[in-house]
Formats: sequence, structure tokens, C-alpha cells
Amino acid sequence: MVNAALPYANGSLHLGHIAGAYLSPDIFVRFNRMIGNEVMFISGSDEYGTPITISAEKQKTTPEEIAEKFHREFLETFSSMDIKFDFFTRTSYQEHWETAQEIFLDLLGKGYLAEKPMISPYCAKCGRFMPDRYIEGTCPHCGFKQARGDQCDECGRTLDPQELIDPRCVLCDEVPEFRETSHFFLRLDLFQEKLMTWLEEKNFWRSNVLAFTRNFISAGLKERPITRDLDWGVPIPLKGYDHKRIYVWFEALIGYLSGSKIYSEKIGKPDYWKEFYYDGNVRTYYFLGKDNIPFHTVIWPAILMGMGGINLPYDVPANEYLRFKGEQFSKSRGIGLTVAEALKVIPKDYLRFYMAMNLPETGDSDFTLSDLQDKVNSELIDKFGNLIHRVVSFITKNQVEPVPGIPDQSDLKALEEAERRFENYSALISKVQIKRAFYEWLELVKFSNVYFNDAAPWKLIRTDRAKCAAKLHTALVLIEYLDYMLYPYCPSSAEKVAGIIGPDNFSSFVSSDLRRPEKSFSPVATEVPFEKLDLGSRNENRIDLRVAIIEEAVMHPNSDHLLILKLSLGTEKRQIVAGLRNHYELSDLKGKKIVLVANLKKAKLRGEVSEGMLLAAADGEKVVLLKPDEDSLPGDRINLGDLPFNMSGQLTIDELKGFNLKIENVDGKNVATATVSGKQMTMNRNGISISTYGEVGTGSTVR
Ligand code: MF3
Ligand code: ZN
Repeated sequence: MVNAALPYANGSLHLGHIAGAYLSPDIFVRFNRMIGNEVMFISGSDEYGTPITISAEKQKTTPEEIAEKFHREFLETFSSMDIKFDFFTRTSYQEHWETAQEIFLDLLGKGYLAEKPMISPYCAKCGRFMPDRYIEGTCPHCGFKQARGDQCDECGRTLDPQELIDPRCVLCDEVPEFRETSHFFLRLDLFQEKLMTWLEEKNFWRSNVLAFTRNFISAGLKERPITRDLDWGVPIPLKGYDHKRIYVWFEALIGYLSGSKIYSEKIGKPDYWKEFYYDGNVRTYYFLGKDNIPFHTVIWPAILMGMGGINLPYDVPANEYLRFKGEQFSKSRGIGLTVAEALKVIPKDYLRFYMAMNLPETGDSDFTLSDLQDKVNSELIDKFGNLIHRVVSFITKNQVEPVPGIPDQSDLKALEEAERRFENYSALISKVQIKRAFYEWLELVKFSNVYFNDAAPWKLIRTDRAKCAAKLHTALVLIEYLDYMLYPYCPSSAEKVAGIIGPDNFSSFVSSDLRRPEKSFSPVATEVPFEKLDLGSRNENRIDLRVAIIEEAVMHPNSDHLLILKLSLGTEKRQIVAGLRNHYELSDLKGKKIVLVANLKKAKLRGEVSEGMLLAAADGEKVVLLKPDEDSLPGDRINLGDLPFNMSGQLTIDELKGFNLKIENVDGKNVATATVSGKQMTMNRNGISISTYGEVGTGSTVR
């Protein structure tokens, strides 16, 4: 049973999410199926909780709409990365509610839940209780300033809102009061001993996960509230609790179980899930990022123990963080790439390849585009792709049929080496050392290149044709091993290679097929199997230009020429500071569509944060805003000529100036342009150029 943490349906998935919790289980599942294990692989949308209600409030929409939008987006994102769950559930499904409510009542009946009054933060200005994420403050443990009411994202500790230093309401900045309200508590204290005993047999866990969990439990388990004063979530199945809901973390975990039930029904075997949850021989794995550890190693096991008779987690191989230029990926702070953004410039298997080589399994790791390009080109393409191309084109050009012959020392050694690497690889993946396992593949690729060079079939073809055929056969056996080992990591590339070397049926392959002695290959002539990756050398467009809408415009408190503008970029909000006070009325700005440089380094202008810069054209004293076309939507990208933004990260103001932004006359119209690699290019959205909100002369500067 393989489960991957249910992502919150309130934002796009970025590469940090993929490397943290989704690529590893996909590789793990594909591998397990390959060696003949039966697997159920579940994840889904975590639709409740305050991250979504907060987004809804900020974006003036409903939580339902946000959850719906992102659930659909998740399905697309995962499929675009070849991450293939058996079922991607939703916590808004009826069956999920029922399962969560049943478990709630079961634990209540057994005395594992207790109702108690508690003191909760209450915002007098908003007139309501403030659930965890509505309150922010300084972490009492590590001093991180943006710790939330439930957890500090910096040090990972779970928190009680009352522990926060300088607490405030995220919606209105008010300092909260603490008032009494009644809630249900999970009696974690009753599981302290049992959990400790259970942990004793977990010495094979990743050391960070084990240490974190041991500390967490040794610190003493307290009862934890599992209901909240909220209207968004799974209702409490008792009378008189209309404005309270089951806490998202309590019910989302249950999503794994309800998801497997819904899946079983869908495939017409309604009891199938029971095999995975009740059969003690089944190993259950939970893949997640490190901020989710205690929920899966303490709270979920306690819930399962309370229910009784159900398989507890076998392993919880939590990953650390993937960093982008040294910083944590964060959609809201504009750091890193979303999956969709990355896929615009990098094929999915190249991303999977690089992220797998770079998984943050034992510590944080860094993602950079130049490193990605280097690794993909040198390891996957130059070493593996090239080997295939050399072997196959030699065979087809010289029309030798690769058939096994009498193996010599080097052939025997090659087969042994392949088998040995495959065994190491299998053992490592089985221990969820996905990154280490991939290094066995890299080693075997190196070895295979040496084998082929030493075999020198281009000499043998003139002297000993049978031996030449045998060497080519061994080379193909090596490639076949490599291809199967590659499959869990880069499935679509591996299938492509299989099509080239011609084994019988790749999709139903199991690893024992590797050892068929007399297998035959029917390689087909081919272009190089993989295209080289060229990021950027042909594209120097480093400006992330976006359409944005001004939602609010106010005077800057400390300046007489600056304004503060609140912008919407679709799902994202930004604040910028702009020097427009002498050129536009506030009322004129509100609702205007503008062009934003979205990747400018954050700056503070007279005490106010500016996350980007709007573009305007200046003709002497006259300043007018750039104008995106009528049909554009906030968040839409604007290209320079046919060059999309090359995803190179942030830009300084001086670097931006280097692009010489200008109004020029193109085909009789005054439009905005920039100079990239010495060429003047027109700013455009889907080919429609960017004009201005008023007339300015040709040659006006844009800034
Ligand atoms: N939604 C949580 C997150 O993205 C993870 C929930 S895991 C679950 O951090 F199992 F509880 F659903
Ligand atoms: Zn902290």
C-alpha cells in the first residue's frame, strides 16, 4: 500500500512538491510492480482546512471553487509528469465524509476522544474564532516570524496558538483575544506507550524521521483538539455542533483509507481495500515532505491503533526540501517553478531524471536549471542515449543479426556486472533509497560504454563476424538491463528505448524476463533516442512579464510621488510600489489591466514592500501605462518576440535596464519592445502586441 500526502487544493504544485512527496512514490510503485508486487497507490486533494478558506477570502471567491479548480489542475499536473496513482481521491467525496464520521464516532465510543472546553484565539474585529492558520506570530522555539497557529514551517514543530509570540490575525492584523469554546480532543496521551513500543522495531527508518518522532513522543503526548470553529470541512456527526467541523488534519489522513475504499468500488471489487488494510503481510508506505512527519508517525498511527486491527505505517520515508537558488520553493513568494512552468521548457523525463538524481532524501538539495541541463546532457544523453544509438546504428548499418555466441571473459563479466548492479539497485529501492539506487544505473551505464568500446565490433566485423554478433548481443542485453532500471525513473523514455531495441512486450515486463538466456532483439534504425537539452543559450529572455489587474491603489504614507498598488495575477496577489502619483488618479488605476515585471528582486521603497514593477512609457513629462490586449487575463505571460521567459529566476533593476525597453513603431503601430541578444523584439501575448493607454512618441522609454 503506497500513499502520498494529499496536497492542499489551494495552489499549483511546484517542483518542490514533486521532489518532496510524489516522484519518489511513483518510482517506488513502478519498481515494485516491475518485480511482481501487487500495489495500491493512492493520493488525493486535501480540500478542507484554513489554507483554502484563507485563499478564498483573499481572492473573493468560494472555497468550493478553489478546491474544484486545483483538483482538476492536480490531475493534469500529475499526468503531465507521468505520476500515476491508482486513484486520486478528494476529501469532499461523500464516502470520505462517512468514513471520517464513522471513525470519529468509533473513537468517541471507545473513550479515545474527549470533549472539553478550551481557550481559542478570537478576533474581535472579524467577529469570530480564528483557526490555526488565521493566526500568525513568532515561533517560541526558533524565532521564525511567520509561524502559524498550528505549526512552524521553519523548525517543523507543531504549536499551540497560545504559544506564539506577538500573535496577530492574518486577515486584519488585529491582536487576538483568547476566549472559551468547546472541542473534541484526541487522547494521544493514551497511546504514548504503545507508540514507543511500535517505534522500537523501526530502526530502518530514515534517521531524521525516527529522531523527530522519538523526540516528539518523549516530550510527552498531550491530548490534541481535533475539531475547529469553522464552517468549511467535514461536519461533526453529533447534534448541536453546526458551526464546528472536524479538524482537517484528522480527516485528511482518513483520506488514504476512504480513497482506497472508493477506488475499490470503482473497479468493482468493493472489498479490495481490505486486503491492503487488514492483511498483516502488506507493507504500508507513506510518502511526504518533512513538515508532515508528526501527523503520519504519531497522530495517524494513534488513530489506527484506536480503531484496532489495521496495518500501521511500515515506513514513512519523508523527504527534506528541494531548494531553488538556496531558497525554499514557494508559490506565494514567487520562488521556484511550478510544474507547468518547468514543463514548458523541460521534457517531463528530463525533469524526473534530474529530480531523481537530486532527491532531498537525506538533506535539502538544490535545483538549478544549469545543473539540470548538465546532468541530463552528460549522463542521460551522452552516455546512455549515445550508447543506444551507436549499438543500434552499427547493427542496422552492417546488417549483423545480434545473436548470443560463446561468451568470453569480458562477456561473462558484463553479464555479472549487470546482474550485480540490478541487485544493488533493487535492494536500494526496496529500502526507499531512490536516489542512491539511481547511481547504480549510472555506474552500469559507464560500465556498458567501456564494454562496447573494448568489444570494438567495428574491428571484429572484418575478422570474426560471429563474435561480432555475440558482442552486439551482449551490448543489447546491457542496454536492456539499463532500460528496465530506467523505467521507474523515466517511464516514457524507457518505453521509447524498448521500441528501438525491440523486446517483446515492455508493459507487461517483470524483472525475471531479464534473465532469459536466448532472448532475441530486433533493433530498428533510429535517430538519436533523446534530444539534447538546450536551455537558454538560444533564449536570453530573462524578463517574466505578466498581465496583472490593479485591485487597490492607495497613497504611499511616506512619499509624495509614490503609490501602493495591490495587484492580482490570477491566483496570486502582489503588492508593488509605483511612482505614478503625478500621472494618474487613484480611481483611474483601480481595475486597470497592466504589464508587470514579475521576477524583479523584491525591494522596500520607503518602508513598503514592492514585489515587482509595472511598466509605463515616458515621453518627456507624459507617462502612460502599458496596455495588454482586451482578451488577456491576469497572470497571462507576455513574450518577447517568440521567446518565452526562460525561467532563469530573479532580475535586478540594472539587469532589466540592460534590455532597453522602448516604444517603437512596428508595422505602423506604436508598441512596446525590448532588446534581447542584440535583437529588438515586440512584447506580445499570444502574438498580440502590447500598446499603451495613451499616445506617446516613437522611441519613448519604457520603465
Ligand atoms: N495537505 C497536507 C499538505 O499539503 C498534507 C496532508 S496529508 C494527509 O501539507 F494525509 F493528511 F492528507
Ligand atoms: Zn520554529
